[in-house]
Amino acid sequence: MTDTRLVAPEEEPEDSQITQTLRPRSLDECIGQDKVREHLRIAITAAKLREEPLDHTLFHGPPGLGKTTFANVLATEMGVNIKVTAGPAIERPGDLAAILSNVRAHDILFIDEVHRLNRAVEEILYPAMEDFALDIVMGKGLAARSIRLSLPQFSLIGATTRLALISSPLRDRFGAHFHMEYYDLEAMRKIVGRSAGILGVAIDAQGIEEIARRSRGTPRITNRLLRRIRDWAQVKGDGHITAAIAEDCLVSLEIDGLGLDEVDRTILLTIAEKFSGGPVGIDTLSAAIGDEAQTIEDVYEPYLMQLGFLAKTPRGRVVLAAAYAHLGLEVGEDADICGEADSDQPRLFN
Ligand SMILES: Nc1ncnc2c1ncn2[C@@H]1O[C@H](COP(=O)(O)OP(=O)(O)OP(=O)(O)O)[C@@H](O)[C@H]1O
Ligand SMILES: [Mg+2]
Repeated sequence: MTDTRLVAPEEEPEDSQITQTLRPRSLDECIGQDKVREHLRIAITAAKLREEPLDHTLFHGPPGLGKTTFANVLATEMGVNIKVTAGPAIERPGDLAAILSNVRAHDILFIDEVHRLNRAVEEILYPAMEDFALDIVMGKGLAARSIRLSLPQFSLIGATTRLALISSPLRDRFGAHFHMEYYDLEAMRKIVGRSAGILGVAIDAQGIEEIARRSRGTPRITNRLLRRIRDWAQVKGDGHITAAIAEDCLVSLEIDGLGLDEVDRTILLTIAEKFSGGPVGIDTLSAAIGDEAQTIEDVYEPYLMQLGFLAKTPRGRVVLAAAYAHLGLEVGEDADICGEADSDQPRLFN
């Protein structure tokens, strides 16, 4: 299917240039995620009062919702350095030892994609997290001996889109876990307004509404759509983003009123029409639409489930009443949607 989707939640090369500009720097600048922000504020205040580092903290949730942003905000709010790395970048225990021997007291070590750390590296991390100690093996064979070095008290912040893939010993060593939720419409409106302000784009309330509704509850997508629509407004209009400009641009990009694109619609239509609404197993679905099962699960399904358009049942995926209503489909007689649908309204918006 399409290589780069405009509504892909993952970071694309085109995002990186403005990520730094648009990323909130302080907790007050962050919008939404009220529960997460409140807990973080308390954790920061308490750690400062005790003059201790923050607890080791794990952020998990779909891509583009602010895990990296919050890790950086924590460092700023604590007034400490942050060292950034990622699970796959730490290949050998020695790589991690080198990183850890450079951290200073209360510093933050941020490990993105922490579910992709390998086993040998994880084992170095356990005593480092628990006892601030580094166990190093010197020499080889019979002459090998282990020495323990003490480390400054640091905080580890981990981020993952795949909580289930983190080993439980590692998961248990994080003192605080935060699940990032899709942003509600109110928060999305504020995010569009904030980003437009920073980029110096003129936009009216209806323009904000259009973009907020089509951003899939994901700030990264907001920022990407906003840039595309800004260009459109400049070329096709007078530079102002209005509802009509936003709508025209998004229609031409085949993104519908809820931010669904061609791939999302294909998934829903395939289940609704070829499999009578489901249930259909993920592998069968994957073969039918020609995309990998893993990609369907990680990338496409979370937002469709969040909308209440799709549900996972023990027998497979089913399309729910709200999706039929959105796609303008008749519910077939043999469609298996009873008992699953709680509303025919998309969930993020009611
Ligand atoms: N609470 C927020 N308020 C306003 N903008 C936000 C917020 N959270 C994130 N953003 C914006 O969304 C963009 C993506 O956020 P971020 O890179 O932190 O996501 P992520 O969860 O780390 O994604 P990934 O899983 O792909 O690493 C940021 O550049 C930032 O501009
Ligand atoms: Mg990130």
